Formats: sequence, structure tokens, C-alpha cells
Amino acid sequence: MAKRFLPPKGTPEFEAEKQFYLSADPAMRQQRAISLGFSCSSGYSVAMEREGVYLSKAVPKSMSKRYNNPPIIREPCLVIFDTQIPFQDADFLNNLLELAEAWGIKQGISGGDLLNMAAFSIFKERPEDKIWRRDRDIAIEVLRALHSHIPKFLLIMGNHEAFLIKALAEQIGHEDILSLLGKPEGFIATDYYYCLVKLGGSTWRITHPRNISVIHGRVPQRLCEKFHANVASGHGHLAGMTPDYSGKYMAIDVGITCDLLRLDYSALRDSTRPSMCRGGLILMLGDDKQCHPYHLYPNSDWTALKRLYGK
Ligand SMILES: [Fe+2]
Ligand SMILES: [Fe+2]
Repeated sequence: MAKRFLPPKGTPEFEAEKQFYLSADPAMRQQRAISLGFSCSSGYSVAMEREGVYLSKAVPKSMSKRYNNPPIIREPCLVIFDTQIPFQDADFLNNLLELAEAWGIKQGISGGDLLNMAAFSIFKERPEDKIWRRDRDIAIEVLRALHSHIPKFLLIMGNHEAFLIKALAEQIGHEDILSLLGKPEGFIATDYYYCLVKLGGSTWRITHPRNISVIHGRVPQRLCEKFHANVASGHGHLAGMTPDYSGKYMAIDVGITCDLLRLDYSALRDSTRPSMCRGGLILMLGDDKQCHPYHLYPNSDWTALKRLYGK
């Protein structure tokens, strides 16, 4: 009968051998293998594996950044999308800002495509629309006006911001765009294409998604189902507020704050896509301490709305 090098399985001696085998370093295992009668440590390992004991090799931890830290806003806020400066709809923006200020709102969120960034667009554009210095000067004025009504603004990424960042091989981030705009007071920027608003027991995901649809509300509905939160999205340039399929969450295609007749690609040529829609959103903490979404359109009754929470 062949010589048994390991104690019989199920005995305290085997358990002690197993603990040693699993905790020893390679040099210690080699020494032990010889003392047990194996010719080398691999024989020791084969014998252990026959008994169902394996040395685990830990997968090294990735050193790459994990993107699990989006900005979170915890107060009532005005949310605007797709301002596409220099094509902003000034009248609509002014109505939104005056209403938000009347309601005492101190926080704004731009949900992406704040500047059109045609100078860095991947698409062929009209040369007169590709003058960065002109767009920058207009943007500085628009941002000053936003700040004069609402002291703090968070800017999330949109694909138009990405035009510039990608043109520079991602060597700059969103905050660097603010530097190009003279570091306007009260503005911070994130590289996330979304942020969260946690208010009155509700969570809202404010997002500039990859997808578009020809059905108003379809994209935020799908995102509600994916992220189990209320969703307010832009990028699709449509507007509508609807429950998601579960009925638990609200989905809002917020709409644009630019003037669609200034966008040559949609104003000069017909398309079967639905017309772009303007819209803005205020997430307000009501008298009942719940978060209430107010979806606002150019023809909203601004005077009556001001009375709702106006001081
Ligand atoms: Fe847009
Ligand atoms: Fe967009």
C-alpha cells in the first residue's frame, strides 16, 4: 500500500494540516511538503486538491475610478435643459427665473447642452455659427443673468459640452469649461451626465441620456423603470409629464430653453420628427413637506403661479 502523506480527511490532524496549507507562504509549503514525504510542493498541492482543498489566488483589485458618486441636491430647484446658448429663448428663461426667485429657490440645475458649442461640433455647421469667442461672450452674459436670480447653479454634462471635451481628447473636464467662461460666480460643473435631487422623501434623477424617442415621455419612462426613481430628462427636445409603467414614479421630458426657430437644422428643413417643445421644471418643497414637480411651459400662467408660493 502506498505511503499516505496526509492525515485522513475528517480528522483533527487533517483540519490542522489544511489550515497550515492555506495560510502558509510558498517557501513554508515547500518545506512542509518535503517533511511530509512529498518530492516538492506541487505534490503537496495535488494531494490537497484531491481532498477538495484549493489555494485561492485573489484577483487584484482594480485601481480604476468607480463612477458612483453623482452630485446630490437636497433643496428646491429650478431645472433647465438644452439652452444651447447662443440660441437661448430669453423670454421663456426670464419667466422661469422670475418664478423661481419668487418662490425663494436658491438652486438651479442645467441638465446639459447649456452652450451649443458649434465651434467644436462633430457635425458640419454654418461657419457663422462656429465662432467660439462670440458664443463665449454671450454665454458669460447669460450665466450672469441666471446667477442674478438664482445664486447657485450645478451644470451637468450634455453631448454639446462633450463636443469641446472630446475635441481636446478628454484632456479637460467640465469644470475647465467654466474656466474658459471666466469662472462665473455660483456655478459648479460635474462630469456626470446626471445628478440626483433628494427632496421631501422623493428622489429625482435629472439626466441628459444617450437616447431619444419620437414619443414624448418615452425615454424618461424607461429610465424610471431602470433606476427606480423619478426622472426628469432632456436631450430629446420633447416635453411631457407622465407616470412610468409601474405608476410609482413620474417621468418628465422637460423640454428645451432655446428658441427652436434659431436652430437651423430643424428650422430650415422639414422632418417627420415631432416639433421641439419648450419646457422647464421646478422641484418644490410644498407646504405638506412633499416634493412637487411643476412642469412649466412658455404659456404657463406666470402671475398666478407666483402667488402659489410667492412671498
Ligand atoms: Fe440638446
Ligand atoms: Fe443633448
